[in-house]
Amino acid sequence: MSSIIGHGLIIINRYFIMELKIVYSNIPLTNEKLEAVVVFVTEDSDLLGSGLRALPDALKKNLSTSLKLRVFTGKKGKSQHLFSGYAKIPQILAVGLGKKDELDAETLRRAAGKAGKMLTDLKANTVGFVVTSLLQDAVETDAGLVLAEGLTLGAYEFNAYKKTDNEKSKPKSVIIQCCDPDNLTSLKALKAGKIRADGTNLARNLGNTPANDLKPKDLAAEAKKIARQHKMECTVLEEKDMKKLGMGMLLGVSRGSREPAKLIIMEYSHQQAKQTIAIVGKGVTFDSGGISLKPGKNMDEMKFDMCGAAAVLGAMEVFGQVNPKLNIIAVIPTTENLPGGEAQRPGDIVTAHNGKRVEILNTDAEGRLILGDALSYVVKEFKPDAVLDLATLTGACITALGHFTTGAITNNDALMEQVRNAGNISGDLVWQLPSYPEYGESIKGKYADLQNIGGGDSGTIIGGLFLEHFIDKTPWVHLDIAGTSWNVKHIGYQPNNGATGVGVRLLVDLVQKWKPLS
Ligand code: BES
Ligand code: MG
Ligand code: ZN
Repeated sequence: MSSIIGHGLIIINRYFIMELKIVYSNIPLTNEKLEAVVVFVTEDSDLLGSGLRALPDALKKNLSTSLKLRVFTGKKGKSQHLFSGYAKIPQILAVGLGKKDELDAETLRRAAGKAGKMLTDLKANTVGFVVTSLLQDAVETDAGLVLAEGLTLGAYEFNAYKKTDNEKSKPKSVIIQCCDPDNLTSLKALKAGKIRADGTNLARNLGNTPANDLKPKDLAAEAKKIARQHKMECTVLEEKDMKKLGMGMLLGVSRGSREPAKLIIMEYSHQQAKQTIAIVGKGVTFDSGGISLKPGKNMDEMKFDMCGAAAVLGAMEVFGQVNPKLNIIAVIPTTENLPGGEAQRPGDIVTAHNGKRVEILNTDAEGRLILGDALSYVVKEFKPDAVLDLATLTGACITALGHFTTGAITNNDALMEQVRNAGNISGDLVWQLPSYPEYGESIKGKYADLQNIGGGDSGTIIGGLFLEHFIDKTPWVHLDIAGTSWNVKHIGYQPNNGATGVGVRLLVDLVQKWKPLS
């Protein structure tokens, strides 16, 4: 029995991307006709050891020869396109898993991602893969879920602006057939994996879209669209509303741009929910630094300064489909940070939503300003049991942790433990940084309650501690995704360039495994 999930092309912000349709079948591949098959091979066992009995004999024969000749060895991170010599399935995408007893979910996700990447150049529209007990034994959840997730993440490309003479700008649809003769997975699990990856790919699309096509109003429109599709509440506050609410920090940042700032609020609720969590994402659609202007080199990268917002929107898109038993409030403060004639100046003092006065010493430390007002608003209005924020907050976080691990600051160890755990499951790794009160001394203000930068050192910690002034003791974790949200190298399921969609699967795993905080 086969059934199809997914429907046609995803159209996001009027761009086409490749769509995978994942089909489930529990009959062996022996009689199927497909253009290619993905095979996962370990480096220290033969094909049978890799659990590939379900492959047709003729195909196995040629694959064994390739392995014997060491055309392909099964090493981790390696992959090889082979011809099978078997007419019904002429091409093989062999992907290495490394050592058999070191196999885990992340290795499998990366291997599947590698296969997904190969699909984008492959001349094939029907591709199979086999779920084996080797793969299932390596993961705690469901191998089908991990494979569907990895394939969908790996197949992602951002070609929206390559319209002329480009094969890749043409929409392409590939049918992936999951062959599961031993009934190890299910259509439901495949679908769950695909939903998580599609949410991540949505965040990637938003991140990669240039700032001339993605303004605060476009993030608001995307939020409205997600809310409409999944029956959530969505309110967008305008600058006049922010004035009434006293959001002087957010309004201060937005002054330098003609594009009006927005405060997006989405509410997902579940009848049986016992707790409410808030997720807040930084949505600076372009960060020039403002009057404290950034250097010209690599300033283009500041279109990624809304990746926190993208993660929140991608996660809400997933929550709308998996219906977790939790109430979730998403808040996105969104603005440009530009040095227009009305821009705020270094030395200006503004009043935050919670009444604190803040001296702006550097207009480029704007993320903490807009997040501070958003955090203060959400804890006051919704009294959530926990609050998380995701932000491309500091360049210092890239210096400390590079592009591979998200930095965290928290006031609550139990919540931090849950976030860390979700990071390990999802592959969106998180590392807690210290936050002893001594670090916070340098942002106590000279002329106001607070100032928006410290002395220079430990910038990531100070950015986090600034935010702590706006959460009124709510259990909180701040996630600095400045490094992890773009430009991640050498991970099978991550694109070679651009936005990663980090945070989406982290938030989904956190919510799905949520343990109430006492
Ligand atoms: N958007 C930046 C942080 C950033 C920098 C993200 C590089 C990704 C790559 C943020 O708004 C910012 O400019 N932070 C300043 C803070 C400083 C002025 C205290 C920074 O990191 O330089
Ligand atoms: Mg403005
Ligand atoms: Zn900045």
